[in-house]
Amino acid sequence: MDEKYIIHEHDVVIIGAGGAGLRAAIEASKSGVSVAMICKSMLGKAHTVMAEGGAAAALGNKDPRDNWKIHFRDTMKGGKYLNDWRMAKIHAQQAPDRIRELETWGAVFDRTEKGLTNQRNFGGHTYPRLAHIGDATGLELIRTLQEKGVHMGMDVFMEFTVRKIFKTDGKVSGCFAYNRNDGTLHIFKAKTIVMATGGATRCWEVCSGSWEYTGEGYALAYWAGAEMGDMEFIQFHPTGMIWPPSVKGILVTEGVRGEGGMLTNSEGNRFMFEYVPEMYKDEFAETEEEALEWVSEIVSGKLATVRRPPELLTRDVVAKAINAERDAGRSSEHGGAYLDISWRDPEEVKKKLPGMYHQFKELAAVDITTEKMEVGPTAHYVMGGIRVDPETQETTVPRMYAAGEAATGLHGANRLGGNSLSDLIVFGKIAGGYAAKRAKEIEYFSIIEESEIDKAIEDTLAPLKRESGENPAKVVEDLREMMQNKVGIIRTESLLKEALLDLNELEIRGRNTTSGSSRIYNPGWHQSLEIDAMIDVSRMCTLAALHREESRGGHTREDFPVPDYKYWGKMNSVITQKDVMAIEHRRYPPMDEDLKKLLDADDFHEEE
Ligand code: FUM
Repeated sequence: MDEKYIIHEHDVVIIGAGGAGLRAAIEASKSGVSVAMICKSMLGKAHTVMAEGGAAAALGNKDPRDNWKIHFRDTMKGGKYLNDWRMAKIHAQQAPDRIRELETWGAVFDRTEKGLTNQRNFGGHTYPRLAHIGDATGLELIRTLQEKGVHMGMDVFMEFTVRKIFKTDGKVSGCFAYNRNDGTLHIFKAKTIVMATGGATRCWEVCSGSWEYTGEGYALAYWAGAEMGDMEFIQFHPTGMIWPPSVKGILVTEGVRGEGGMLTNSEGNRFMFEYVPEMYKDEFAETEEEALEWVSEIVSGKLATVRRPPELLTRDVVAKAINAERDAGRSSEHGGAYLDISWRDPEEVKKKLPGMYHQFKELAAVDITTEKMEVGPTAHYVMGGIRVDPETQETTVPRMYAAGEAATGLHGANRLGGNSLSDLIVFGKIAGGYAAKRAKEIEYFSIIEESEIDKAIEDTLAPLKRESGENPAKVVEDLREMMQNKVGIIRTESLLKEALLDLNELEIRGRNTTSGSSRIYNPGWHQSLEIDAMIDVSRMCTLAALHREESRGGHTREDFPVPDYKYWGKMNSVITQKDVMAIEHRRYPPMDEDLKKLLDADDFHEEE
């Protein structure tokens, strides 16, 4: 092949420029290795900023009863015990130090009256645990990491899309990327690679993610032979904007409910009281009076002595409740629910939720200090991902590491809000540290087969060479609509089987798209290239959903509506690339006895 390409050499290549990637880059650079960071978009433009309400860490600043053991318990319980308990333990233990570290790097967290980092309530967290900066926590986290990172000497490649991970003798040896601006082709030789590529929620029509979230990270790892875990578990955040249509899916932070926001239906009822699951009965208020008492305690700055309001149940529960109210004919005007914070002092609302105030004012002409918001579920997060070693974050492909949403394990069947920002900084650091350590042990860059490079180039340039074909935007639109309708919040065997057939057709259509022949910023070309990844990620999710005959966390089967004890706390789905996409179920090692004691005995079921 006579196409020209540019070769780069870096000890550690980090793919992804959000919180996990930046934290990994800081850690790797610190140890003296050369680091490249490849960003699909601009440095720091990442879904991290959509974690608005805070980062969960048991600092105990707002409530001294909090500690890592309770955070561990909440995370496991929220994840319906499918979590890798070893990651949940590391996360709960290390999150406070990572938050304190961010402060020393200049993150400006909100403060308590005593000058400590302030913490707010969020769903599924027993105590106020989310360190926050108004409702722009992810943004401040990115700003802080970016400022720290760029001074550590890493090379940043913005607007590059990675298309292939190379392996030599079964181990990662580099990757192939193209520059989205000018179409130049690039080979990155690497001793280790960190996948910090975030999620894939653009595979659904209504989502909180921006255009980058097409799942390349998952697909690249899968194509390179990595084991993928728990891909059926998709988090539909209960509160996205639903009106006007142009803003559908944009996130409304859980911080609104954390600050006392109430959910009501068309009849004016606080319906969440009807949806408290058995496993949470002891922890949540049963009456409006009890919930109001809790609210008045937290608003006045006291320790809450009564049970939390049901709006602070976990996201899976709240999203399904909003759906159920809609199906029962009690939805808000545009098919969701009402969220009301207007009972609080308007100045407090503007101070604590400035982003939400402006978002609703400017995008929906709603003043949230006096009016109710209208909200509904939006695809927000993938709990599944690349399987990793809990201590090192190395994937099952040697020399490939993964962190943040790209990896799986910490969150089980459902992630607690706020646990993603702490996930990024805890496991980003670990992944970057181990990737650098390993890279230092490797003397030479491996040789990448020329035939592999040729194939990557040929595949990348193929859409430009087709003289006719379908518009890729139409294929993507149909894919997203299909996933929304057939692999959404509520699933059935027949819909999932249909979805698998639809994906086969969409795959064929995707391979016959055309986008003109220009390599200079050509969005049609970029979109043509994204389709294969979107198809395979959607297929992983659908296949895993079909094989999980139970309902749990972010996976609900109408035909199997309850958790199946045969899976309870022990079986995770594992997908690998064989001749076809292959699935099996496996469990993480049995939990340490001292940790098991931290869980609710009634919730946890021993192996039968
Ligand atoms: O609602 C939110 O602010 C989102 C936070 C998260 O996903 O962790």
